Amino acid sequence: MQNNNLIIQHASELVTCSGFSAKCEADMSRLQVIENGAVVIRNGMIDAVGPTDQVLADVSVSEYQVVDATGKAVLPGFVDSHTHLVFGGHRAEEFGWRLRGDSYMEIMQRGGGIVNTVKATRKASRQELTASGLQRLDSMLSFGVTTVEGKSGYGLDCDTEIKQLEVMRDLNRHHPVDVVPTFLGAHAVPSDYKGREDAFIDFLITDVMPQVAADGLAEFCDVFCEQGVFSIEQSRRLLRKAREMGLKLKMHADEIVRLGGAELAAELGAVSADHLLQASDEGIDQLAAAGVVATLLPGTAFSLREPYARGRDMIDRGCAVALATDFNPGSCFTESIPLIAALATLHMGIRTEEAITALTINGAAALSRADSIGSLDVGKQGDAVVLEFPSYHFIPYHIGVSTVEKVIKGGRLVYDKTAAKEGT
Ligand code: NIG
Ligand code: FE
Repeated sequence: MQNNNLIIQHASELVTCSGFSAKCEADMSRLQVIENGAVVIRNGMIDAVGPTDQVLADVSVSEYQVVDATGKAVLPGFVDSHTHLVFGGHRAEEFGWRLRGDSYMEIMQRGGGIVNTVKATRKASRQELTASGLQRLDSMLSFGVTTVEGKSGYGLDCDTEIKQLEVMRDLNRHHPVDVVPTFLGAHAVPSDYKGREDAFIDFLITDVMPQVAADGLAEFCDVFCEQGVFSIEQSRRLLRKAREMGLKLKMHADEIVRLGGAELAAELGAVSADHLLQASDEGIDQLAAAGVVATLLPGTAFSLREPYARGRDMIDRGCAVALATDFNPGSCFTESIPLIAALATLHMGIRTEEAITALTINGAAALSRADSIGSLDVGKQGDAVVLEFPSYHFIPYHIGVSTVEKVIKGGRLVYDKTAAKEGT
């Protein structure tokens, strides 16, 4: 059926995550679950949500593809709101160096790390980047992701930054997962600008960002605000200009050293501040007061063997917390949403309900899209996942393994594990 009309019925738990803005405090635990629930998607948009009997009473079912979810939980599609999904090459050897004791920043400072991926990404053709990007999106889809943010930042020159963003535009057109592009030109200092970080920020502001903004290639601007990378002052200067050019703001903030990145994100009214492993109490309070989404990336702390961000404290202090993978070739090479959910619940004091909120409606809020995705509410895009299990509790419990059986994107069935099995 090509009309994007689809009904999911008889879900043991229809986890709506209902809401149209970021959720904080006790609201993060309120998933609004409907037993024996149904969702009606018409022309790609959600038309009705509720108990199956009530919802189907006035629907002419023959106009719809019907998905039976008896014994299965149904949730909104997951929103992975922080990834670096377009890159050339891999850095498996660095994983071994880190096991032998080298730190992420030591590897970066001796010319490995991000700059290593920059070399490979500059060399890669658009076709190569598109092909690997499509494969990664397929993998993300199999974990139930229906919208993903992707960052540039492996070019650090005008042509390659634009190339990465254009590849994301193509991926968005050719793959069912929606890709939200972020300009992260200030991801590392390229070797020809070593010691001249201010000049590199000037270059991004005058030579790259205007083109990115004029061509509508990015919605957000991000910066790696970190000791030995870009300072608070440099980050402020870049982000203010980005805002003037119409980009919304994100930050890699207080990841490795407590520089005051959270405070800067609050000062600038960023949409999200990400990582926050070292964020101060004042920084956390300021994020909460300013309504900046705190995007936590426990896969990165796990992979780098760093202490986890204080997720419990952040929720208790009133922050809207989102969770994301940070999928990238260096600090966290995983697309696994259930691994993120397991780490958040087992190591950050986040409850399962809060983790689900953080992966759905709050992830949507971290992309300024809480009005259109992230929950099963009438009027939103018809993006949903059907689990193989009867309850959302299986998501962190089945550690690292996808519990997703089907994914519906805009009312179309775009992933079906059972069909894949039948086809073999
Ligand atoms: O979010 N911290 C900076 N950027 C990424 C890592 C990117 C990389 O190592 O390639 C992060 O951890
Ligand atoms: Fe990142």
